[in-house]
Amino acid sequence: MRYQQVMQTVLPVVLVLAGVSQAANILFMSGVPSPSHYIWLRPLMYEMGRRGHNVTVLSADVEKKPPTNVSYIHLENFYSTMYNTTMKQKLDFFNMANESPSKMLQLFDEFGLDLCEAAIKSEGLHFLLNYPKDFKFDLFVSDFMIGPCVPSIIMHRFKDVPYIPSTPYNAPSTAATVLGSYAYPGLVPNHVFDAPESMSFVQRVKNFYFDTYEMILHEVYMHPEADRIVRKLYPDAPPTHTFYKNVRLSLSNVNPIIQYKEPMMPNMIPVGGLQIMPAKPLPDDLRKVVESAKNGFILFSLGSNARSDTLGPERIRNILTAMEQLPQYQFLWKFESDESKLPVPVPKNVYIRAWMPQNDLLAHPNIKLFITHSGLLSTQEAIWHGVPIIGFPVFADQFRNINYCVEAGIAKRLSIQHFQANELVRTVREVLGGDSYSQKMKQMSRLFRDQPETPLERAAWWCEWVLRNPDANLLQSRAVYMSWFQKYSYDVLMFVLGVIVTVLVISWKVVSIAKDRLLSGVHKSKQE
Ligand SMILES: *[C@@H]1O[C@H](CO)[C@@H](O)[C@H](O)[C@H]1NC(C)=O
Ligand SMILES: *[C@@H]1O[C@H](CO)[C@@H](O)[C@H](O)[C@H]1NC(C)=O
Ligand SMILES: *[C@@H]1O[C@H](CO)[C@@H](O)[C@H](O)[C@H]1NC(C)=O
Repeated sequence: MRYQQVMQTVLPVVLVLAGVSQAANILFMSGVPSPSHYIWLRPLMYEMGRRGHNVTVLSADVEKKPPTNVSYIHLENFYSTMYNTTMKQKLDFFNMANESPSKMLQLFDEFGLDLCEAAIKSEGLHFLLNYPKDFKFDLFVSDFMIGPCVPSIIMHRFKDVPYIPSTPYNAPSTAATVLGSYAYPGLVPNHVFDAPESMSFVQRVKNFYFDTYEMILHEVYMHPEADRIVRKLYPDAPPTHTFYKNVRLSLSNVNPIIQYKEPMMPNMIPVGGLQIMPAKPLPDDLRKVVESAKNGFILFSLGSNARSDTLGPERIRNILTAMEQLPQYQFLWKFESDESKLPVPVPKNVYIRAWMPQNDLLAHPNIKLFITHSGLLSTQEAIWHGVPIIGFPVFADQFRNINYCVEAGIAKRLSIQHFQANELVRTVREVLGGDSYSQKMKQMSRLFRDQPETPLERAAWWCEWVLRNPDANLLQSRAVYMSWFQKYSYDVLMFVLGVIVTVLVISWKVVSIAKDRLLSGVHKSKQE
């Protein structure tokens, strides 16, 4: 006790003297207009503020009452850009389940470029760009799923700011552009490809095509287009790919225990589950419902992008029918529109609410099962709290998240397009019937939690590492600067192939000449 008190007063002084916790100006950008992307990065923003840094957040999502040391600048037109007109058609989340992987990869690039076009018209971005000329940020942390365009504008304006590209999105291989990571098409399915980890030959051929297509698309489409947009604002800006020199490391939503194993670059810091906080008490209405559920409760939520009210009457009827056939369980359904709009009356054992404190509910001892769209954050929270899953993957990495869990025996997968009420009932009974799912899930939960420090502490430590060593780019791989053709040794393979073909052609010529000689020799000797 004594020792702790002494440390509490002495330690901060020591740290300040050692220059460890000097207040720095940190710029965060959360530009992807999707609440889950913002929610993932927010704990780190607040933690850096709590550690006494001056945190500026340029974001599509903003808080009305930010904590001390954190101030927001609103990217006010990002959500409207995403949900209006052409983007809206592209982003019909339930149709996306039908899109081909190559189309999805193209959509990812288009999405970042459309948002960049919005950014250069955004008052929020211009407010930041108009900061005093000598204003300096010591660190720039940004969700790199928005592509290279918007971050390049910021790095051009705030020259030489050390950059930590970060993302809640799955897969080390998506960091290929920013860290030079390798994608291993024979080992891991591309992030948008719905295939199991043990791919068949045909699947590996397809996967090779998707990985290669993605690299080429970045090079011939995404970067040139990004350059064009940046130069509307700054005609003298260098090409966008040159800003990768500012990358010091990347905070990635990765934890090998709970996803496909992939080799990682040394400057990829795995902080999977960064967003998971200790559970808070439930609001009164929910607390009453879940505590009175005698046989436990089941949480149903399709996340923040694919809203339940866009499911259509057919699917909604199927879901409610299934819930009614399982009267022993209490259901909680995150559903965004009001009950009067539902095609059938809500069964007695179903509680509907527009918003659910998902993490707090998953932490509740009475929960039995989580029915989810299998987004990565939801999957991690379920595993952290040891709750078995039924997944309705809708698009992108949701397929790989659920495929991994199914293979690990902690989840079942259903199709949002084709499922029937009785199928859902059967699946719930199967998962809750024996102990197998919940035991395997509890085991994975233990492994996921067994870490030297929390992912948030790790992320904050590495941010301060960059603040202490702003110029250190020794962790960066040279692969960032190599073209994909050299990086994967395609030039060497071409050369080797060339040598083999040349040797074969020469040997064939030699053999056929020798054969001709021999044959004509034989002819001659016969004639004599
Ligand atoms: C804000 O930063 C200051 C130092 O700049 C620090 O002393 C204070 O604790 C921080 N406030 C909060 C609420 O974390
Ligand atoms: C702290 O950040 C805010 C918001 O970006 C900025 O207006 C302010 O000048 C910064 N303070 C210091 C001391 O740099
Ligand atoms: C998007 O649509 C809303 C309402 O329909 C409109 O007010 C807004 O100006 C539109 N935004 C853009 C960027 O087109």
